[in-house]
Amino acid sequence: MTRRDVIQKVLIGGTTVIILPSVICSCSKDDDPDPGPGGGGTPPRTITLDLTNPTYSALNTPGGQVIVQSIAVANVGNDIFVALSSVCTHEGGTVVYSLASNKFVCQLHFSEFSTTGSLLLGPATTGLKSYAVTKSGNTLTVTL
Ligand code: FES
Repeated sequence: MTRRDVIQKVLIGGTTVIILPSVICSCSKDDDPDPGPGGGGTPPRTITLDLTNPTYSALNTPGGQVIVQSIAVANVGNDIFVALSSVCTHEGGTVVYSLASNKFVCQLHFSEFSTTGSLLLGPATTGLKSYAVTKSGNTLTVTL
């Protein structure tokens, strides 16, 4: 059987039974393009901050904040760190953490967000994306 014969049979359905299983398998709902942690796929992206590095030393003090890759990472006290998108959902202003009020406040029109990113006060109408932060020794890891 020549290649031409095979193609002709596929086009007229003569070998459909043989060809279709591979097509069906490649479209199975069990395929997960991003299985996430433990799924054997691409590991989650992270940002690692070395707190001994002067660039991030503000995080050693409650109320301290740094912005890395458009993510505001803040020390909210008691060795707890939070990470939120630093880009306000209203018009893209930069949000800054305030230890006194325990909120993130947009510097453009003063929308307020909780430390979990939920919207507290407009004009923004949606909250900020939040990211998990873990601390190990002098290293903070933000999982994107
Ligand atoms: S850009 Fe943040 S409140 Fe307008």
